[in-house]
Amino acid sequence: MPFSVKGTLLLKEDHRSLEKAAQIIKSGGLVAFPTETVYGLGAAANNAAAVARIYRAKGRPPDNPLIVHLSDCDQLKSVARNIPDKAFDLASCFWPGPLSIVLTRNEKIPALVSAGLPSVAVRMPDHQSALELIHLSGVPIAAPSANLSGRPSPTNYRHVLEDLTGRIEAVIKSTPCKVGVESTVLDLTREQPVILRPGGVSKEQLEKILGENILIAELEKQNGTPLSPGMKYRHYSPEARLILITGLASMRFTVIKILAAYYLKLGFKVGYLNTSLQGSLKCNASPEQLASTLYDSMRRMDQQGIDIILAEEISPAGLGLAVMNRLKKAATRILHVG
Ligand code: TXA
Ligand code: MG
Repeated sequence: MPFSVKGTLLLKEDHRSLEKAAQIIKSGGLVAFPTETVYGLGAAANNAAAVARIYRAKGRPPDNPLIVHLSDCDQLKSVARNIPDKAFDLASCFWPGPLSIVLTRNEKIPALVSAGLPSVAVRMPDHQSALELIHLSGVPIAAPSANLSGRPSPTNYRHVLEDLTGRIEAVIKSTPCKVGVESTVLDLTREQPVILRPGGVSKEQLEKILGENILIAELEKQNGTPLSPGMKYRHYSPEARLILITGLASMRFTVIKILAAYYLKLGFKVGYLNTSLQGSLKCNASPEQLASTLYDSMRRMDQQGIDIILAEEISPAGLGLAVMNRLKKAATRILHVG
């Protein structure tokens, strides 16, 4: 018998356990599963009632659409229609992998999956258990990140249990997610491709394949409305107040030192992310290392009762753009120096 806490099963990654997980998906249940980016909270994408339960379990705003996960490119046609050649070019280069492509939604996919939008985001995760689960379920799986809405995304099964125990049928126990930040969301339904959310595949990598410039939605707005529903929420937030220090590199360290001394003197517990001061992340870490530890560091600092997190900016090249996007969204204050 698999281990269960408050009705949530903790499943292993062997074939029998994944069959059990697939059975749960087929019968309209919710299963949290590992991917290479973060854990997903999955339901059968063609089952509107099951998809509605995802929104409830996470406390997710009803206007924030989900990503549909495939195990096979052949499933793409059952999820999207009028698929441009660009989508196939990108899929053949980056799938399985951390790229979600926004396409025109096929009517077979309930509108609820896309929060009523005529489009749908699709990706194929680069994780053996995720691929096997989707395959055994026999349907594409709709899945947002498996956290309570507003909390940092889960990068290991313990994070999922912290947030969703008793709210979902099962969690698959795997090793920590490799990439650590979510997939890149690329919208191909517009005249020019737009990155709605930077993630595991960089702008540079995408531009190389498409041979054209890609816009970044953070920098674009249409009549003051964000281009993607997800952009308007303050995501990825630890409970602590996070102050992001940007600007002149030579001055950032001095400012961080002054701020740390000030808050410590006031009796606050101070934590550090990517700073040259003490802390779990050092400023000479690569963007890949930062990405893979970012959410776990935020959750740990919350558990330690840290009041203030001081974080230093990193270069937006490659995966750095995704890390900076998450830091800006988590920040209660951005302090620009120099
Ligand atoms: O790496 C990932 O993408 C993870 C794993 C589980 O696959 N999933 C994930 O899902 O991060 P979620 O729901 O936390 O984020 C999905 C993002 C949101 O910002 C949402 O607004 C955007 O994708 N999105 C989904 N469908 C969209 C659509 N049709 N049009 C525009 N944006 C969409
Ligand atoms: Mg999320």
